[in-house]
Amino acid sequence: MPHLYRISPLGPTNPTTLSPPSPGTAPVLMAAKVISSGIRYTTLPESYVRPVNDRPNLSEVSNCDDVPIIDIGCGDRHLISQQIGYACRRYGFFQKELTWRTINQVVNHGVPDEIVQKMQQVGKEFFLLPIEEKMKHYSEDPAKTMRLSTSFNVQKEQVHNWRDYLRLHCYPLDQYSPEWPSNPSYFKLTHVEKSIRIREYVGNYCTAVRDLGMRILESISESLGLQKEQIKTILGEQGQHMAINHYPVCPEPELTYGLPGHTDPNALTILLQDTLVSGLQVLKDGKWLAVKPCPNAFVINIGDQLEAVSNGEYKSVWHRAVVNSDNPRMSIASFLCPCNDSIIRAPEEIIKDGSKPVFKDFTYAEYYKKFWTRNLDQEHCLQFFKNQ
Ligand code: OGA
Ligand code: NI
Repeated sequence: MPHLYRISPLGPTNPTTLSPPSPGTAPVLMAAKVISSGIRYTTLPESYVRPVNDRPNLSEVSNCDDVPIIDIGCGDRHLISQQIGYACRRYGFFQKELTWRTINQVVNHGVPDEIVQKMQQVGKEFFLLPIEEKMKHYSEDPAKTMRLSTSFNVQKEQVHNWRDYLRLHCYPLDQYSPEWPSNPSYFKLTHVEKSIRIREYVGNYCTAVRDLGMRILESISESLGLQKEQIKTILGEQGQHMAINHYPVCPEPELTYGLPGHTDPNALTILLQDTLVSGLQVLKDGKWLAVKPCPNAFVINIGDQLEAVSNGEYKSVWHRAVVNSDNPRMSIASFLCPCNDSIIRAPEEIIKDGSKPVFKDFTYAEYYKKFWTRNLDQEHCLQFFKNQ
């Protein structure tokens, strides 16, 4: 956790010169739980400082200029699955060119592209709320289906990460949306615009992203030579979570991470990057490369479950988020997660004759439990499920 400092009414302060708060400074204590508290740090609190051999070395990172961009609305299913197969084999991630018109054609639900902007606006406004308001949702319990939290796994990790996040379960929508924050008000507000009834900005975003994810899973299935529905069938009735990640301005970005290198534990991640501020980096051929924001595109990550279902043919991509000292950054990650009791197993068709599957069978519930008992810096979670 950040150290506790008194907030000076005179504005930004240098925490290193301040004494710990005295009793009766509850807002300060609360503020200390998250980093989007309004405190402006001039030095990085010690608990965020990484050891010298584990720092982002930002000057050595170059841009990834060739992130595959796939136009999923082009109408040619064969071409799409070919391109997705190539991207998954070579990169493990790709960007999907997205205009909402394309999405509308795909899912035919008439969501205007304003939904993406509104989603971003909701996320930004949430993190601008007064600390007392945000802290109503604070929890460090990963089992909670709606919570504001910070870093990654504050109870397990040794060094913290320069990130706050609001995590929501999003499917089934009717089950989870009632527990979402009601501030900012249009998080859930019913709204009518140009005679289209927009039920909820965030809800609509979730539905559209889910449809997109399902289409991508179909193409991934076909790209592995499987039936279109086969991977979806293995994953069962998938859950959906969203993390609205907020990375405040960081006084010493060379010393810490927003999120250290990790792979996502779920099946597929659909990431909406900040439109202006970079921060996502992916590991390719042993080097970290920056994925610059691309307008109208989502970044699609293969997660651990697809690595297992593809028998290791598609790799769950290593990625991280770095921070900067100029601008706050927001990203919105949507995670498609297998049904808790679905058995994660590569279909026989893709296991070479006579060879053992790369991974043991497991349920997603088992995997997820294991994932949260660790921290991101430890051995990769899939290693625990490998066949010897
Ligand atoms: C994540 C993640 C990257 C980013 O939330 O799992 O990897 O750019 N986010 O915020
Ligand atoms: Ni991630």
